[in-house]
Amino acid sequence: MKGIVLAGGLGTRLFPLTKITNKHLLPIYNKPMIYYPIQTLVDAGIEDIMIVTGGNNAGDFLKLLGNGSEFGLKHLNFAYQAKEGGIAEAVGLCEYFAGHDKVIIILGDNILENSIAGDVKRFERQEGGAMIFLKKVKNPREYGVAEVRDGRVINIVEKPQNPASDLAVIGVYMYDNRVFDIVKTLKPSKRNELEITDVNNAYIGGGQMSYSILDGGWADAGESIDAYNDTISFVRERQVNKHD
Ligand code: DAU
Repeated sequence: MKGIVLAGGLGTRLFPLTKITNKHLLPIYNKPMIYYPIQTLVDAGIEDIMIVTGGNNAGDFLKLLGNGSEFGLKHLNFAYQAKEGGIAEAVGLCEYFAGHDKVIIILGDNILENSIAGDVKRFERQEGGAMIFLKKVKNPREYGVAEVRDGRVINIVEKPQNPASDLAVIGVYMYDNRVFDIVKTLKPSKRNELEITDVNNAYIGGGQMSYSILDGGWADAGESIDAYNDTISFVRERQVNKHD
């Protein structure tokens, strides 16, 4: 299974902090933001990782991360997203990297308290399809929101005005190799992006989506400036990624 960390986009909700640098290079307590999602993949046993970046200071990722030795990796792969065409567009750039393998994708601003190694192993054994993680939140309007019926996700709506539940779809997605064919069928949304929610709804439509309720804390550090500051407190208080 291959791992993908998405670190493109403009981070406009954190402006002016992101005026001259990339959101994922900003500090979260004692480390740059991108360290946390990379560590989550490494802790789940993923050794082959691609970083997709773009926007401001793309070159700084190479300088910061090098070949990934700080994470115990032998090598890191990099891809460049020329425009902010959406999460699903960034995923599409990884087709040649994935080859015939399954992929796990993590958004570069998502920080998880606990390991997801067990779920990753379960998905590796699963024949195909997709798997997402859901988490109960107080502000579902800021996220993709899942409607669950009889133990199955039946629909996801991106940032709904009237959320069907308080279950946010967090930014960790596991897919079989068909994801790259699905991305090619997508049309840009109202915000002119290829949406990951449309990818997930395609798997749901095909009856191939499973889910897990995320255990432990979760933060989307890019959601707002308050979320960014709350994430720093969360990481410090819960000692997230206390590897060193
Ligand atoms: O954090 C979870 C949420 O992430 C989900 O609940 C939503 O369904 C999903 O759409 C996403 O929403 P956001 O509005 O938070 O996505 P954002 O635009 O902040 O992008 C998240 C990460 O994806 C960002 O840290 C960098 C990467 N990205 C984003 C875009 C738009 C790219 O690499 N390229 C892009 O073009």
